[in-house]
Amino acid sequence: MSVMEELEALRQQALAALAAAPTLAEVEQVRIGYLGRKGALTAVLRGMSQVPPEERPSVGQRANEVRLALEAALLERQGQVAAEEAATRLETERIDVTLPGRHWRLGSRHPIEIVLSEARASLVGMGFEVLDGGPEVETYQYNFGMLNYPEDHPAMDEQATFYLSPEVLLRTQTSGMQVRTMEQRQPPLKVAVPGRCYRREVVTATHSHTFHQVEGFLVDRDVTFGDLQGVLAQFARDMFGLQTKVCFRPDFFPFTEPSADYSVTCTFCQGSGCRLCKESGWMELGGCGMIHPHVLQNVGYDTEIWNGYAFGLGVDRIAQVRYGIGDIRLLAENDMQFLEQF
Ligand code: FA5
Repeated sequence: MSVMEELEALRQQALAALAAAPTLAEVEQVRIGYLGRKGALTAVLRGMSQVPPEERPSVGQRANEVRLALEAALLERQGQVAAEEAATRLETERIDVTLPGRHWRLGSRHPIEIVLSEARASLVGMGFEVLDGGPEVETYQYNFGMLNYPEDHPAMDEQATFYLSPEVLLRTQTSGMQVRTMEQRQPPLKVAVPGRCYRREVVTATHSHTFHQVEGFLVDRDVTFGDLQGVLAQFARDMFGLQTKVCFRPDFFPFTEPSADYSVTCTFCQGSGCRLCKESGWMELGGCGMIHPHVLQNVGYDTEIWNGYAFGLGVDRIAQVRYGIGDIRLLAENDMQFLEQF
């Protein structure tokens, strides 16, 4: 084959290859194959020394024409393929802007969390320092022993306990945090600790095996039961409104003396008596009293100087009263229709 024929064959092959290259990457391969440093046309141009001198001008001219033709064809094909690729991308990435958007369901705060943050705000407003949590897996010593429960005292039966071992249990009350906090600090102190508690109880509309309490306690000089009543009366007004009445009735807790239970006007019957308040007109929120000197002595406080009060309130009960929730179980069921109301 003469060089001229070879050039013509190359031109035709290259044009055919270009026409068949469907992507920009393959068009580039064709360019490298013919016009690149080691390309077929470049090889022909390099071999010009073997062409008889009299033919060189015409062969050179022809080779240049072929190169120019290929370069032009390459540019054109690149343009076509780029347009095709853009069209395909547009087609596959097409979005229908008229489609309705996705509906994101917004969460809401859980009533327990709302009540807890309001309780915190009320207590902080009265000068309490609010501490976080404390252990839910607690020792017998902190849950009962240091709180002046005598061994086998019937009061412990009231708080049916989940024991993990004879010494370790799920805390039945947040009162252990009184001892834990006092052990680490010196009086005066005014502290509140919210936390989750557990009791092995039959679940009813007002009792659950898992519930929340807020413990509050103050140790200072010359503290009176009136101070305690004042704080809990203000707490009731903050949480349920100015018209709310409070009621203190004598009760017994080994770690307070005297002790009382603390109730507020039942919101379900406005005090006239209903099933939920056991016809009393009052909803019990918690217990309270003056901290027993034994508890203060257990943590090494001098009871000649210091005394104090403590209270423990049921947060779930507060949420029930606050929002008129007839059944405490609703607070743990994660029913969206119920939760979305808050
Ligand atoms: C106590 O737990 C004492 N620690 C309260 C206390 C603290 C007294 C400091 C004195 C000084 P009681 O067992 O009564 O007391 O529980 C207090 C409150 O927790 C109850 O009034 C109730 O609101 C809530 N509570 C108790 N058991 C349950 C339960 N099973 N489900 C839901 N709430 C409960």
